[in-house]
Amino acid sequence: MISPLSRRQFVTTSAALAASAFVPRRLFAAAPSGIQRVVIRTDSEIGTVRPEFHGHFIEHLGSCVYGGLWVGKDSHIPNLNGYRKQAVECLQELGVPVLRWPGGCFADDYHWRDGIGPAAKRPKRVNIHWGEYVEDNSFGTHEFIGLCRLLNAEPYFAGNVGSSTPHELRDWIEYCNYPSGSTLSDERAANGSAEPFRVRYWGVGNESWGCGGNMRPEEYARLYRDFAVYCRNFGGTDLFLVASGPSGNDSHWSRGLMDGLGWDRPQGVSMHYYSGGADRSTTFTADHMNEQFISYLKVEEAIVQQRAVLDSYQKGKEIGLILDEWGVWDDIPEEDERRYGKLWQQSTMRSAIAAGLGLNIFNRQADKLHMCNIAQMVNVLQSLLLTDGPEGEHCVRTTTYHAFSLFKPHRTKTAVRVESGDSSPSGLSVSASKSDKELVVTLVNPRHDVDLQVECTLKGVNPNPGTAQILHDAEWNACNTFDHPDRVVPKPLTLRVDGSQVHLDLPRLSLVTAVVPIG
Ligand code: AHR
Repeated sequence: MISPLSRRQFVTTSAALAASAFVPRRLFAAAPSGIQRVVIRTDSEIGTVRPEFHGHFIEHLGSCVYGGLWVGKDSHIPNLNGYRKQAVECLQELGVPVLRWPGGCFADDYHWRDGIGPAAKRPKRVNIHWGEYVEDNSFGTHEFIGLCRLLNAEPYFAGNVGSSTPHELRDWIEYCNYPSGSTLSDERAANGSAEPFRVRYWGVGNESWGCGGNMRPEEYARLYRDFAVYCRNFGGTDLFLVASGPSGNDSHWSRGLMDGLGWDRPQGVSMHYYSGGADRSTTFTADHMNEQFISYLKVEEAIVQQRAVLDSYQKGKEIGLILDEWGVWDDIPEEDERRYGKLWQQSTMRSAIAAGLGLNIFNRQADKLHMCNIAQMVNVLQSLLLTDGPEGEHCVRTTTYHAFSLFKPHRTKTAVRVESGDSSPSGLSVSASKSDKELVVTLVNPRHDVDLQVECTLKGVNPNPGTAQILHDAEWNACNTFDHPDRVVPKPLTLRVDGSQVHLDLPRLSLVTAVVPIG
């Protein structure tokens, strides 16, 4: 069985190989500051920046759910009916388009009936994937839907294929979606929700090549078909089924899956792509940071190539490509895990740059993607919020939170093509999107040794004076801590409009979003 750790090491190794294969040595040497020219082709549209590109993922892992988002109604931590109040408020401010739950690896060992009914009567199970703690199931289906309602997020359930049956998944869907009158829908009503949940997104397994069953693609395809045939549009809710896709750019898995599915096509296929880190998150070396950044070239390549694989089977019916789990996975110290929970990872200026590289890719590949979910929302891996352990009252917005907030103006706009003079692997990264009234441009300078002056020429529209925000710290290990929660936060940046050009200064390690009214 492939453990998440061995997979992470694999991705780390891939990143290192990618770095050695793609990066000329001179990129690591100091280079002079310079002017970068960028052309924004507002006349060349790519596709809609779906809000779902900024989706999230939570798992019963470490202090993500328990102690992170869910503290319980009797907690000393300020809460809204059991949900950590400060976390909810931060996430409401950011906006969460879609939220995936309950795993991850956890999903294929989860039985939904354990998490319904009076909390005191719910069974206690051992979480076999994440440290063998005793899971009391106090956060279940109703609590998850309650969180989605608070955040105005679309729920996305990951069903258990690895250790369950088609019947169990079918019943979960009926329980959630059938309006009333069946035993399961009446049970939902008795448990507090007469209204059906109308859940559209259902993952059919998770990482079925690894922790979700250790299957070969043809074995999983057979199982997918068995499960999918019983996943019905109860009560008129059109399901969007997501088949478990490849680890990274593994086309052997994708082709084996698609061949095995025949005409039983899912609405979506997931891909997981972590960018491994060779160092602990707050003690990265410059070389290891560059290796991690350069791995994003591989992420973009994987999106393009996996889209092509799916399209070769499409025959008139589009299958959504979903980057179900993505983000940086650094070396995590055991002392931090003991103190704060499993896979608890600090986010630094480096992590924010990595988030910016990823989110820029999603804009540039907007026509190829359906959804992308950062792993994970709170306390685990590249999280948006950190709490000081399950009992701690502190909750800080990470640098990754702020990177996401700088991309918010792109949501629902139309991504447009950008031409950049810098084609080096760790060069300036740019994406742009437009509405009738404004153009949004995000620029990421991943270099730790070069400040840039960027000249953006707009083709097809005339810019008016606009505003810009910058997230920047020249120290790449800089982060927001419980003592200094606002060390790295967005600040206003001056931009200069001159005819059809917008000029911006991007210091080393910075992420800038400019919003420019257009005529
Ligand atoms: O996000 C942590 C783990 O990474 C998930 O449980 C699994 O799907 C992946 O291996």
